[in-house]
Amino acid sequence: MCGEVSGDLMDKEVTLMGWVQRRRDHGGLIFVDLRDREGIVQLVFNPEEQAEVHKRAHAIRNEYVVAVKGVVSKRPEGTENPALKTGGVEVRVRELKILSEAAVPPFIIEDDTDAGEDIRLRHRYLDLRRPVLQKNLVLRHRVCLSARNYLSQNGFIEMETPVLTKSTPEGARDFLVPSRLNPGHFYALPQSPQLFKQILMVSGFDRYFQITRCFRDEDLRADRQPEFTQIDVEMSFVDREDVIACMEGLIARMFKDALGVELEVPFERLTHDEAVGRYGLDAPDTRFGLELVDVTDIVRGAGFKVFAAVAEKGGVVKAVNAKGCAGFTRKELDELTELAALYGGKGLAWVKIVDGGWQSPIAKFFTDDEKRAIEAAVRAEKGDLVFFSADRREVANPVLGRIRNELGRRLNLIPKEGFSFVWVTDFPMFEYDEAEKRYYAVHHPFTSPMDEDIGKLDSAPLEVRAKAYDIVLNGEEIGGGSIRIHDQGVQTKIFELLGMGSGEAREKFGFLLDALSFGTPPHGGIAFGLDRILAIMTGSESIRDVIAFPKTQKAVCMMSGAPSEVDRKQLDELCLRVAGKG
Ligand code: AMO
Ligand code: AMP
Repeated sequence: MCGEVSGDLMDKEVTLMGWVQRRRDHGGLIFVDLRDREGIVQLVFNPEEQAEVHKRAHAIRNEYVVAVKGVVSKRPEGTENPALKTGGVEVRVRELKILSEAAVPPFIIEDDTDAGEDIRLRHRYLDLRRPVLQKNLVLRHRVCLSARNYLSQNGFIEMETPVLTKSTPEGARDFLVPSRLNPGHFYALPQSPQLFKQILMVSGFDRYFQITRCFRDEDLRADRQPEFTQIDVEMSFVDREDVIACMEGLIARMFKDALGVELEVPFERLTHDEAVGRYGLDAPDTRFGLELVDVTDIVRGAGFKVFAAVAEKGGVVKAVNAKGCAGFTRKELDELTELAALYGGKGLAWVKIVDGGWQSPIAKFFTDDEKRAIEAAVRAEKGDLVFFSADRREVANPVLGRIRNELGRRLNLIPKEGFSFVWVTDFPMFEYDEAEKRYYAVHHPFTSPMDEDIGKLDSAPLEVRAKAYDIVLNGEEIGGGSIRIHDQGVQTKIFELLGMGSGEAREKFGFLLDALSFGTPPHGGIAFGLDRILAIMTGSESIRDVIAFPKTQKAVCMMSGAPSEVDRKQLDELCLRVAGKG
């Protein structure tokens, strides 16, 4: 390979093939940087050694594909390039074959390219020639290989599950595929292999894994794609601790094999209550402080009506101390207030602790005692800036959690290097949707409630905790799983609580309920978001940089043009009409 030519091959003849990164003409000599997956090597065409080959080398342009034969030589003193693995040598070319010409590429094929993402995604075949993307995708291969080795050595069997299937609820919309042979009937692409992996446990496979594509039609963000890859795992006869220990081994192995990084296990743990209470979010970034403080009891009787009313109605008032930020400008405060609004906050009260006390639009509503109590609670000193969010618990915490993360970024509190893992456990089983007046499963409907909370299923469903766990890396959820319900009666009950009548439950999940009735081992598992893990491993801004052919925020593949319209004939065969198009 071009990138592997080194002093070990000195004076030997080599045959190389690759893409032309650059051609330079220098006083008769022609230099060509030849690139392949492994890197770049310098070729030299000398008119005095090979006149005819040198003449043909004039035709070479960027991105041509060429084959050469030549002799590895030491570069002249002072012309070495220590930045390149091959920088001490060059190849004196004796034979040249142009295998393929190339049109002028629309952007520079280098890590630091001049093109915007749209253009790069349209010409993804060129984009993927850039060394960063090559490196990312090779790393992806190494991580998958490592996972396969670890899981296989630990008794897991890799099995495939259907892509044309029935809806598996994971909280997103389904992608539907019409069935030609069954007009009016649709397959759903799996949001995850959840039901099939559980059924494989019923069938006695004991330990399953799959590195598999999942499909979710949801609004996209930098860390979300409509199709993404999970490392999906299920195990029989286990409890939470078995799953966690085995999966810590998997993560440690992947980081060791792919990056050479030794992780310390076991990882840190937080209960869901702690995570949300202290960091505001169920995917807490524990790499820096600025923890949230509950000041509800202090402000309950205060003159500031907004806080008092929230406390009265059972909500919370949370505060965070931005250490040393009393100098924030109006603009900075406005930006943060906008951010709070983006996440549903009704406002973002702030207090600057300055000479002479509180500088704040709400200072006048607090007594000196209340001020002192708040300062003590958040450990505020002169020069600090304290933010408050008051609302229902489900709003105030995440709003201030987002503000905290933003402060962490702005104040450079987040280390540039390193991997910080934390398990979040003891999730609530349900959340209540005020608008739709119904309960939703926080993880998914197949997650087991905690044994000691089963009694509260009817009386206080929101207090029931689930045997669910998430794993968070550097403040991002990279995986989630649970111990499952293995009892048909409990599963039926959970469906009922989720507002599914027995008819609907049978229609949607009858096959699961039937399977559970034929001897089901206690079982549980997890799925990791492979793309997210890789984005963090590589320090990428977006998971698009670790996926060979990603889609845009509008779920479009810029290169192939998918999704696209189809022929009338195809629609007819499927008995479909596009509404509004006749
Ligand atoms: P969950 O829905 O938590 O669990 O998904 C597991 C992990 O997949 C990743 N992920 C995504 N990555 C990129 N784009 C997306 N749109 C996307 N959605 C999710 C996240 C997430 O943690 N069946 C269960 C697992 C189980 O219970 O075993 C499941 O799918 O990193
Ligand atoms: P107001 O009295 O509505 O003008 O609000 C005074 C200050 O309190 C402003 O800085 C608002 O951003 C802030 N505020 C209003 N509602 C809330 C709330 N629910 N939580 C936190 N701050 C709030």
